[in-house]
Amino acid sequence: MQNGSFYTIKNKNKLQATITNYGARWVNMMIPQKDKSSVNIILGFDAVDSYKKPSAIYYGAVIGRYANRIAEGKFKINETAYQLDVNNGNNHLHGGTNGFHAVVWEVMEINDNSILLKYQSKDGEEGYPGNVEVTVSYTLTDDNVMRIEFIAVTDKPTVINLTAHPYFNLNGAGSGTILNHSLTVNADNYTPVNETLIPTGEIKTVNHSALDFRTFKKIGEKIKNNDMQLKYGKGYDHNFVLNKSSDVLSHAAILIGDISSIQMKIFTTEPGLQLYTGNFMDGSNIIAEGNNDDCRTAVCLETQHFPDSPNQPHFPKTMLLPEDEYRSTTVFQFDLL
Ligand code: BGC
Repeated sequence: MQNGSFYTIKNKNKLQATITNYGARWVNMMIPQKDKSSVNIILGFDAVDSYKKPSAIYYGAVIGRYANRIAEGKFKINETAYQLDVNNGNNHLHGGTNGFHAVVWEVMEINDNSILLKYQSKDGEEGYPGNVEVTVSYTLTDDNVMRIEFIAVTDKPTVINLTAHPYFNLNGAGSGTILNHSLTVNADNYTPVNETLIPTGEIKTVNHSALDFRTFKKIGEKIKNNDMQLKYGKGYDHNFVLNKSSDVLSHAAILIGDISSIQMKIFTTEPGLQLYTGNFMDGSNIIAEGNNDDCRTAVCLETQHFPDSPNQPHFPKTMLLPEDEYRSTTVFQFDLL
C-alpha cells in the first residue's frame, strides 16, 4: 500500500492548507499577513516518516475510532465485553497504537479548495467491534473557514468519537510558547479527571477555578496554579462541557495569537472540547529551522465527545448502530485582528 502523499488546497484569499492521507492529517495552514507574507499556524512535517516518531504520531491527525481515553480499554455493548489496545498507561488513548492516525486513507476527491478521504476500519481492529467506513472532508472556503466533516457507518453496534488533532501556534509553528495566546471557551462546566486522566464522572463548574475561560484569559495565566487537576494533566489536558442544548453547529472557543494577531474561532456540532496545552511535547522534533517542538509551543483544541463515555452512562452517547449514521462537523474560522 502506498505510504502517503501530500495535497494542497487553497481559497481566493491565499489561505492555503496541506493535508496528507497518512492519518488524514492537517499538515499546515498558511495565513497571509498584512505585509503579504504568510504564517503557518500548524505544527507539521513534509515527510510521512516524520509522523512516525512516537512524539509526533498525533500531530494534525484524524483520531479514531475513539479520540481521548477509555479506562483500561474496556467497555460493554449490551452484555458483550470488549478489550481495546492499551497504549497509555493502563488506558486506551486515541484509537490505539494503529488507530486512524497511523493508517493510509484513500483519496476519494480532490478539488482546488477541498479534499475527501476514506478509511475502512475492519471488525476487531484495535479491539473495536464492527466494520466501520469513515470519511473526512477538509474544505477551505472563501470566507476563510476550514470546515472538517466526518461521516461514519458501521455493520455492528460499536463506539465512535472522532476528532481532528492539529497542534496550533497562532504566532507561527516553531515560534515559541503558546502561554501568551488568549483563549476563551464557551463552557460553564468541565469533566474533572483522576491521576490517569480518566473522568471521575462529575460535571463540575469552572467557577473559581483555573479552568474558567468564560472570558478571555492568557493560556499561561493560571497554568501553574496549585490545583490537583493541573497537576494530573501537567497543565491543561481537560474536556470542557460546551454550553449547548442540541448538536447544532455552535460556538466553542476563540484563540488569539499574541504576536501575530491571528484569531481562530471554533464552531462545532460536538458536545465537548479538549484543551491540551502541549504538556508532553519534548522538543524532539524539528518544526522550523532552528526551532524544536518544546513543551507548550502548541495548543490543541479538540472538539469531541467526552473521554470514557462508553463507561459513563450519563455522558452524551458515543454508540453507533448499523441503522444510524455518525456525523460531526467542526469549523475553524480565521481572521486578522
Ligand atoms: C490528550 C493528551 C495527549 C495528547 C497527545 C491529547 O488529546 O488529551 O493527553 O498527550 O493528545 O497528542
